[in-house]
Amino acid sequence: MFSQRTHWSQTHNALTLAVAARRAAGLPILDLTATNPTQVDLPLPMDDVALALFQGTTGIYDPQPFGLLEARQAVAAYHQGKVPAEHIVLTASTSEAYGLLFKLLCDPGDRVLVPAPSYPLFEYLAVLESVQPVPYPSRLANGEWHIDLEALRDMLDERTRAILLVSPNNPTGAVVHSEEVLELAQLCQERGMALVCDEVFADTIAAGLYGRMASLAGLTTCLTFVLSGLSKVCLLPQLKLGWMAASGPAELLAQALARLEILADTYLSVATPVQRALPRLLDLRHGIQATLAQRLATNRRVLQAALVGTTATLLPADGGWSAVLRIPRTKSEEEWTLALLEQDGVLVHPGWFFDFATEAWLILSLLPPQPEFAQGVERLAARLADV
Ligand SMILES: Cc1ncc(COP(=O)(O)O)c(C=O)c1O
Repeated sequence: MFSQRTHWSQTHNALTLAVAARRAAGLPILDLTATNPTQVDLPLPMDDVALALFQGTTGIYDPQPFGLLEARQAVAAYHQGKVPAEHIVLTASTSEAYGLLFKLLCDPGDRVLVPAPSYPLFEYLAVLESVQPVPYPSRLANGEWHIDLEALRDMLDERTRAILLVSPNNPTGAVVHSEEVLELAQLCQERGMALVCDEVFADTIAAGLYGRMASLAGLTTCLTFVLSGLSKVCLLPQLKLGWMAASGPAELLAQALARLEILADTYLSVATPVQRALPRLLDLRHGIQATLAQRLATNRRVLQAALVGTTATLLPADGGWSAVLRIPRTKSEEEWTLALLEQDGVLVHPGWFFDFATEAWLILSLLPPQPEFAQGVERLAARLADV
């Protein structure tokens, strides 16, 4: 009766089961995986957000496939005018933008290259469009992540329709190197593929990065889509507004936009109040990002200090919301994370969750409230000292 693409395994991994058991037993968990910005005690200007939404509720419904012009102009300004408002498409989320792009670019069975390590939703987003996600590796050398371009080239075939990037990456925080972008864009142009860059964490990029490309917005070598949205830019995932900024060779771009217009018109999924509120919400992001930056920096400092003298190494990051720890392979990631949960009441993610090629890594969110984060990190450091 049901589609093959929804034939998911119903079994849960050992960590998920252990979390459920602990919750059922009423035992506390210090959750160092929390990334929901509305649940980590961050002071956000919710009165201003509510007022902007309220003001956006009045007036007529004017269905526009790509969204209201005033909203798209605000997104164009966010991207410093590198992409005009006419080439911005509003969506209900970044995830929905991926769905639209896979529909635009791929037939069933086509392939898209996805980064590894990276965020685990790609598998679902691609498979739900009957597209095959093919992970391409990045490697760590001297504290910097580099895309393995040779391995990536070997994965291309005539059914590969797009290369996806996440920059800064989730969870490594790596910003893509300029020379890698140039090479990927060239490959895409030669082989009729699109380049899709997820820049939801772009506002967290550390200043003064050398040889990196902070944004691909406006790239014209190949058909390019830059994705972002309110989830991460304004810490407002509940408002359900994302976007893509399209660019590329003129003829190809015009064709892509004409097709996207019909695709987007079929759903018209973005609510009007949030579109009307968008210019004001994007104005608010400066204060919101400043609050966020303080939380991220403080938690990273606390983590760094706690790990001194332990067997763990904190990897440097160019941006993003996560911390990556290299830990000894004396235990598997599963054993480490289960021991932390069951004996210390601390929840962290194993590297395999983000498709790390090797063991052993732990991934922490830098978003949790400070007292909870500091307590969790103290217990983590004690366990990592104890090898
Ligand atoms: C890299 C990346 N892209 C997109 C998203 C989701 O964004 P949205 O809420 O707009 O779908 C996330 C969420 O964690 C993410 O890590």
